[in-house]
Amino acid sequence: MSKVTVVGAGNVGATCANVLAFNEVADEVVMLDVKEGVSEGKAMDMMQTAQLLGFDTTLVGCTNDYAQTADSDVVVITSGIPRKPGMTREELIGVNAGIVKSVAQNVLKFSPNAIIVVISNPMDTMTYLALKSLGLPKNRIIGMGGALDSSRFKYFLSQALGCNANEVEGMVIGGHGDTTMIPLTRFATYKGLPVSNFLSAEKLEEVAKSTMVGGATLTGLLGTSAWYAPGAAGAFVVESIIHNQKKMVPCSVALDGEYGQSDICCGVPVILGRNGIEEIVELPLDAAEKAAFEASAAAVRTVNGALKEVGAL
Ligand code: 2OP
Repeated sequence: MSKVTVVGAGNVGATCANVLAFNEVADEVVMLDVKEGVSEGKAMDMMQTAQLLGFDTTLVGCTNDYAQTADSDVVVITSGIPRKPGMTREELIGVNAGIVKSVAQNVLKFSPNAIIVVISNPMDTMTYLALKSLGLPKNRIIGMGGALDSSRFKYFLSQALGCNANEVEGMVIGGHGDTTMIPLTRFATYKGLPVSNFLSAEKLEEVAKSTMVGGATLTGLLGTSAWYAPGAAGAFVVESIIHNQKKMVPCSVALDGEYGQSDICCGVPVILGRNGIEEIVELPLDAAEKAAFEASAAAVRTVNGALKEVGAL
């Protein structure tokens, strides 16, 4: 019997729950929201697709009733406000830090062994806040950002190559911010061949830039944050954990000397399995990539500093 809770039944949380159910990642998926009736309604709506789509997962919705989340194997935190056009993810910290901290503490009361997946923005800082305020071992706190950014990178690569996104490999490391993420163009491949065999340096630069502002582009189009890919990326991370798939996925995790960084959560490739982070994978970065990672970590650290200012740490 496996159970996953998604806290926050807004666009991202509901999409995540829907993908988890559709793919039968867990036996039970609980959605919890502060808005009366929203989780219950969305859960019922999704359950009414079970026969149409042919899935067996049970979905449960509840309003702020953490007892219903008890004994979850994984808890996904999507709570907080999304960004509006023109806003950075970092500007959300004042509101979201308080929300994420109290949600994380509440879920832990009922699911003391859960692995926590953080989606709320600013994602690296919210992951760091969960790490610092919960006092859990670092393998159990995972920020989803790199999974999403890597999927966007593969999308933009596939568009440039004119191929299916499933034929492309690529990873994005560093912070989940418009200027902090690092699409690793040098390691990206199309059918195992470096993408530089097919695309010019200028085109690859364009792909990297589109990836970095991928979230902002969608916020501009939609008037609010994107949800299909963020929700699916959350479910992808959960699936690798629950099914012990040992996939290598870039995620925001606590670094303790890896990549030359400590006391920070930042995006690096990790192996995801039943213990959460099973291993941090150290990539052979060149000098420019190392410098980019250092700058990215410095920017994330500055945002983390604001946690003290808003009284969250
Ligand atoms: C995004 O990049 C929501 O941060 C998320 O779309």
